[in-house]
Amino acid sequence: MATPLSHLALLKSPSYLLRRHHSFAPPSLSGFLSFRSLSSPLSSPFSSLSSNRSSNKWKQPTAALLEIGGVKIAKDDVVKENDPTNNVPDTIFSKLGVELHRRDNHPIGILKNAIYDYFDTNFPAKFVKFDDLCPIVSIKENFDDVLVPADHISRSYNDTYYVDAQTVLRCHTSAHQAELLRKGHTHFLVTGDVYRRDSIDSTHYPVFHQMEGVCVFSPDDWAGSGMDATSYVAMDLKKSLEGAVDMRWVDTYFPFTNPSFELEIFFQEKWMEVLGCGVTEQEILRRSGRTDGVAWAFGLGLERLAMVLFDIPDIRLFWSTDQRFTSQFSEGKLGIKFKPFSKYPPCYKDMSFWISDSFTENNLCEVVRGIAGDLVEEVQLIDNFTNKKGMTSHCYRIAYRSMERSLTDEEINQLQGLVREAVQSKLNVVLR
Ligand code: DAH
Repeated sequence: MATPLSHLALLKSPSYLLRRHHSFAPPSLSGFLSFRSLSSPLSSPFSSLSSNRSSNKWKQPTAALLEIGGVKIAKDDVVKENDPTNNVPDTIFSKLGVELHRRDNHPIGILKNAIYDYFDTNFPAKFVKFDDLCPIVSIKENFDDVLVPADHISRSYNDTYYVDAQTVLRCHTSAHQAELLRKGHTHFLVTGDVYRRDSIDSTHYPVFHQMEGVCVFSPDDWAGSGMDATSYVAMDLKKSLEGAVDMRWVDTYFPFTNPSFELEIFFQEKWMEVLGCGVTEQEILRRSGRTDGVAWAFGLGLERLAMVLFDIPDIRLFWSTDQRFTSQFSEGKLGIKFKPFSKYPPCYKDMSFWISDSFTENNLCEVVRGIAGDLVEEVQLIDNFTNKKGMTSHCYRIAYRSMERSLTDEEINQLQGLVREAVQSKLNVVLR
């Protein structure tokens, strides 16, 4: 039976999950989840609190014209510097079309394929898979269709990349649920790159990958169970995930599911959330023309799981084109542990300023990332006080570290100088 729900959701992020009939032993996810090794969280703005993520610099060459899922995209369509309804920087545009999840030799692609195999083995020919849906979506698809309230924090310019007032870079693969349901799909998996403004550390990056799963049941499925439809579907959802090592269910809230759960796994002395899921709100099915169905859905963050499975210590590495990283992985090999080529020392620089009311940490991180790219490993608030006049000062510690080489003092001092200038000119703060 379903594990009793307990705890409040302290954590955050994205997710994964599962199957239908239990006439055979539930294929547990332990295949994927029997790891051991590494880091911490990405965050979901949809569960409880806020979010977080890190920077970039080993830039992939940026094509002037991209084609993603049949949609042609020019840089000017996405980055509009003088348009106040647009907040997409060049660094983010450069990630569009990279599609790490479609590279069979890349950890993200290897993990996607392994999960696809899991579904194919356990539900032959049942789940339809999508992995090239365009990440530029309407706010209707990203928010309204999955019942995200009008005043929800995830809609803010501080949290989401807006192409214009009506269009965003999807911040979750849930953006495709309603349309696929409307088209008549009842069992599907959607994998794609998702975009969120956030702070910077080793497990947070403004672009990451999710896999969404949706499974719709019909009255025949729960009729003989003696349970109501929601309990039946929730049980099916959880049953398929239980049994894997050291995991627990945490009760949570998502606008699009009820009940909603997060699955956490115990990793490096901490509970780490790997997936959000639940029984889909009936309203979503109703609007998609599925009045008699009841569904479960999940969202899995691929980076987080890949960091655990492959022992990858820093989320920036996924974007590295350094051969010493890329050559370590190969198609179909899930068990490989990454061997760091070398640990270069970090260099810390502190920076204090008086903030204004409009200051946000996400904006700071974007400015820092815009200057220093993937050389920034972490931006951390280390001091915060308000003086008698009511002025608030923040001190941030920036950790600079390359995964690929030693950085010189000169180079870091120069970067820090540029960061200070940019922070001062773009963020309306007063450096101290
Ligand atoms: N979209 C959620 C996120 O990004 C994850 C999620 C939770 C997806 C529950 C779902 C779901 O489909 O049912 O945090």
